[in-house]
Amino acid sequence: MTRAIIAQTTGGPDVLQIGEAAELAAGPGELLVETAAVGVNFIETYQRSGIYAVPFPFTPGEEAAGRVLAVGTEVAGFTVGDLVTTTEAQATYAERFVVEAARAVPVPAGIDAETAAAIPLQGLTAHYLATSAAHPQPGDTVLVHAGAGGVGLLLTQLLTARGVRVITTASTPEKQELSRGAGAAEVLPYAGFADAVRDLTDGVGAAVVYDGVGKDTFDDSLRALRVRGELVLFGAASGPVPPFDLQRLNSGGSLSVTRPSLGHFLQSPEERAWRYGELFAAIAAGQLHLRIGARFPLAEAAAAHRALEGRATTGKVILLP
Ligand SMILES: NC(=O)c1ccc[n+]([C@@H]2O[C@H](COP(=O)([O-])OP(=O)(O)OC[C@H]3O[C@@H](n4cnc5c(N)ncnc54)[C@H](OP(=O)(O)O)[C@@H]3O)[C@@H](O)[C@H]2O)c1
Repeated sequence: MTRAIIAQTTGGPDVLQIGEAAELAAGPGELLVETAAVGVNFIETYQRSGIYAVPFPFTPGEEAAGRVLAVGTEVAGFTVGDLVTTTEAQATYAERFVVEAARAVPVPAGIDAETAAAIPLQGLTAHYLATSAAHPQPGDTVLVHAGAGGVGLLLTQLLTARGVRVITTASTPEKQELSRGAGAAEVLPYAGFADAVRDLTDGVGAAVVYDGVGKDTFDDSLRALRVRGELVLFGAASGPVPPFDLQRLNSGGSLSVTRPSLGHFLQSPEERAWRYGELFAAIAAGQLHLRIGARFPLAEAAAAHRALEGRATTGKVILLP
């Protein structure tokens, strides 16, 4: 048997209980992996609480890194013992997990297992947000909410490396300091951020607002945009945004809103290889710093969810089996 987190029903963090799951095997095209570290992500809190529908009993987790224990038939390019990582598996809150080989990547030498588990979901998200979901140009000013969060710290670094001026929001002095360290030119409290962004851009507004906070910030994020600005709503840490009147995009200045999802930016092996390749290269070159802000034992997954939902985390949260 394999130790795994199993939730019997939707609910608060305490539904996440450690238990015994059936033994796994690598089927055709699959890898069986011994988990070294698991990435914890906001989406698992949405699934656990019922905002996103999943079947129960449920073992959360799509992100993890570990050593290959077994290679299924029809798999090329992997051998037993390889360190691999993924954000496209299922049930990774466990001592072992199975992943399609096409959705796993070998970890380059020099990157340890914890870092490897921490990169994929937030790193690939920051990468597609910076390169593909909107079109900020060098010299543009953008706003990134939750600048000390997992995505926020990485997105700020990727954007500043491209010559974009980044303003962020963060809720505490410690988080504001971390965000500045990632390259934010200005770090704002949430209260009054739309007016502050306008003041910091000579009344023009931001070219792009990256909003993973959702309900609490959405309206003011629209107000912070310049004419023909782009709002990228990529999450709902404060709750889902209610329906809104498209006419607001007109009156706000021919604005655009997009609601992207990582899976749509990993559409081919080439796209996946490009995004991972740039992230690994930037980390190896010391140009991208990945902060692991909290580590929890696997059995304490509930505490990890409580911390994430309670705004008590910075950077990445991982679980260790
Ligand atoms: N669409 C995609 O492809 C995609 C992929 C990955 C992540 N996401 C989304 O991106 C967002 C950030 O993810 P992450 O993993 O990097 O999380 P995170 O930013 O590390 O954590 C969320 C942060 O949001 C801020 N926040 C503001 N209001 C909040 C509230 N009421 N409750 C909780 N947090 C609040 C907090 O920072 P402050 O205390 O500084 O406000 C908190 O630390 C999430 O919404 C997630 O769902 C989307």
